[in-house]
Amino acid sequence: MPIIRDEAKRKEIVSLLTQAYWMEIETVQSYIANSINLDGVRAEEIKNSLQTDVTAEIGHAQQFGRRIKELYGRVPGSFDFKPSQRSLQPPADTTDVVSVIKGVIEAEQGAIDHYTKVIQSCEGVDYVTQDMVVKILADEEGHLREFEGFLKEYERK
Ligand SMILES: [Fe+2]
Ligand SMILES: [Fe+2]
Repeated sequence: MPIIRDEAKRKEIVSLLTQAYWMEIETVQSYIANSINLDGVRAEEIKNSLQTDVTAEIGHAQQFGRRIKELYGRVPGSFDFKPSQRSLQPPADTTDVVSVIKGVIEAEQGAIDHYTKVIQSCEGVDYVTQDMVVKILADEEGHLREFEGFLKEYERK
């Protein structure tokens, strides 16, 4: 007996989880690059925070992957990857910390929006995925708030 009896619903959830998986993978790429590229005293805190988040986001990608597999899906290979995080491309000016902070906020907000959608889609049919994504959502909200705090400080004259 399948975990989710409604086949269309199962496919919908696997597809939402696959998108979430790619979002985490792209975030890992962007956070690694920006945590290394930035220069200056003002960048140190941001770089450390991004470095810590890389580990968290890899863990999220693995959780999404395992759930895709549990729901009879397949974790995609790198050839299927399509980038979308334009605002997290490393800035030409390596001291432009504010643009990286804003990019992180946009990425975390995007994750929050998508994971909220996944949670809603699971309602009444898949509480295990729902519970997992609620916990991941809590992490992303923490990341968002942290970077909103950084932005507040950096935008002060
Ligand atoms: Fe994440
Ligand atoms: Fe995050």
